[in-house]
Amino acid sequence: MKQTIRTLCELYGPSGHEERVVEKIEEMVKPRVDEFHRDVMGNLITRIGSGGRKLMFAAHTDEIGVVVHYIDAKGFARISRVGGVNPLWLYGRRVQFADGTIGVIGREQRGTKPKDTDWNNLFLDVGVTCKKDAEKLIKIGDFGVFVRSPVTQGKVIISKALDDRIGCAVLIEALKKLKKKVKNEVYFVFTVQEEVGVRGARTSAWSVTPDVGYAVDITTWGDTPLVEPMNTELGKGVAIKAMDQGTIVSPKIRKLMIDTAESNDIPYQIEVLRGGATDAFAIQFTKTGVPCGVVSIPTRYVHQPSEMAHLDDFAGAVKLVTALANADHSAI
Ligand code: CO
Ligand code: ZN
Repeated sequence: MKQTIRTLCELYGPSGHEERVVEKIEEMVKPRVDEFHRDVMGNLITRIGSGGRKLMFAAHTDEIGVVVHYIDAKGFARISRVGGVNPLWLYGRRVQFADGTIGVIGREQRGTKPKDTDWNNLFLDVGVTCKKDAEKLIKIGDFGVFVRSPVTQGKVIISKALDDRIGCAVLIEALKKLKKKVKNEVYFVFTVQEEVGVRGARTSAWSVTPDVGYAVDITTWGDTPLVEPMNTELGKGVAIKAMDQGTIVSPKIRKLMIDTAESNDIPYQIEVLRGGATDAFAIQFTKTGVPCGVVSIPTRYVHQPSEMAHLDDFAGAVKLVTALANADHSAI
């Protein structure tokens, strides 16, 4: 299970450039699904089972990053955000581009204090002295991602892009457990462009038109020094979302998720996320509306280069998704 997360986290896949991740996932899930295809946006839509109700589980393949938008005469590039990236986390970091090119993020030293770090005083340095040489390595419109390899230490995994490769890994591991035998018509969808506004979930949910949708994604944490109060802690179980800024989980689904966790002895935590949303935000608006739930994995340092999650919570998420795939959804 660890290896699945690691393999996916290593891959390059900023929003709109998820092909490598999607290809790898396709290779991993091919033998375990009845049907699969990629849609125009690049989402990988897979199905197992028939009968029961149509369930869609979505995990996003993209990761946050930066895009080059300007290169000056000395070869320094200016970058801007792809998804929710805070410039304060960037100074001194390395980013990597599709071809492996590495850049270091520097900050203009004069005139501003570190706390004023902003996109306008950060620059990307690929180690050259003129624009011509820079353009051999990077071009306007190139997307870069954080460089941080996955590490497991005790029961935690630390890596870039746990958001949401860990969710993709949950779906892959659930497919292994289900062995194509499931009581509902279940779609596991690996979506694109979540980080820039749940774009892939929109088109994939439209083609699937599920009766019930679930996003499987990370959530934030409430267990480090002086962090803002939040109910989710690492290692205390998979989180069942009550609400975030894009979705209010229907009480019926929340109850079904809680009942399913309890009857399968899966430890869980209830989550209210005060900032952010998931693919469920898009799925719920499909056609005349789709009731949605969210399976979350508490993760520290979300959207920073080193995110941290607990392997027990991951295992709990796999169990919960597996049980939900088989759960009777007739009352929803
Ligand atoms: Co995210
Ligand atoms: Zn996410």
